[in-house]
Amino acid sequence: MSEEVINKIKVTIDGVTVEVKPGISIVEAAREIGGPSVPPTMCYYSKLEGSGGRCRTCLVEVSKGSEKDPRPMPKLVPACRTQVMDGMEVKVITSPKVVEAVQGVTELLLINHPLDCPVCDQAGECKLQDLAYEHGLERTRSEFPRRTFQPDDLGPYIKLNMNRCILCARCILVANQLTDQRNQGILFRGDHAEISTYLNKAITNDFSGNVIDVCPVGALTDRTARFKSRVWFTEPVNATCKCEKCSGKAVLWVKGNEIIRVTARKDQYNEVEEFICNDCRFERKDLNDWTIEGPTPINKHSVISVNHYELPLPKNDPHYKLKNNNIKTIE
Ligand code: SF4
Ligand code: FES
Repeated sequence: MSEEVINKIKVTIDGVTVEVKPGISIVEAAREIGGPSVPPTMCYYSKLEGSGGRCRTCLVEVSKGSEKDPRPMPKLVPACRTQVMDGMEVKVITSPKVVEAVQGVTELLLINHPLDCPVCDQAGECKLQDLAYEHGLERTRSEFPRRTFQPDDLGPYIKLNMNRCILCARCILVANQLTDQRNQGILFRGDHAEISTYLNKAITNDFSGNVIDVCPVGALTDRTARFKSRVWFTEPVNATCKCEKCSGKAVLWVKGNEIIRVTARKDQYNEVEEFICNDCRFERKDLNDWTIEGPTPINKHSVISVNHYELPLPKNDPHYKLKNNNIKTIE
């Protein structure tokens, strides 16, 4: 038996036991199981150091602390900031308390959100939209006016719609960890807090466009692609280019022969696999700039797959191979 296996610990989430490395968070352990027991994460981002602990959408119930100390934790805990212990038992969808808490957090996140999905470029890819659909109330109970801000251009490429921001701080972490200069931050406190640029500076460094990919809502959008198309009318294809600044691995969102926008590739938890540079994202909008690898696998439950749905053909059908080269879907 290898040393790594000996060092693994057992965690049970919603009745499913998994062996994981010590020191990881409950979210990471849940991701090893997959499925509906993975808590929603609006601020945690495994590729960004120090992320998490801000939105509370990942609250879970720890019904048994560990083998050594089996007492339950007295309150719900954020799964992204709580380490697993050997013998720990966690409830996510099996805990009525957690379900109620996520509903409450969703209501709080939506208190100032404009719900302008019909005109928002993030619609169809927005994690707050998914959360509101699953846990939101039919109508708001808040009687207070929502916070409103004027849309702001953060340089030539990025648009900030502060009305939609949930203050997850991922964009700040991208600026801190991926670029050599950070021009934006969170100003003010409490319900006055807002993302803004330092002395109205533009965000121009080579990897700044990644703030768009990490933003879970439509607060930061690509100015070169705004309002060009709803995401479900475009076809995502994996493509590569020769780039000196990044890996050059991207997804092209194509309509006809036009590249509507370029993004980084994302995993099943909507996290970027490899961050891309601004040249790839904003400047390479010609299909001749890219080598097409093939269709991007998309979740068949996603609205993006809506125009790509095809009934499976029997394997012995002569068209099987041809059809199989079309958009692939993943569970
Ligand atoms: S702009 Fe987007 S990424 Fe930045 S804090 Fe707001 S929601 Fe998060
Ligand atoms: S994802 Fe855990 S607090 Fe936001």
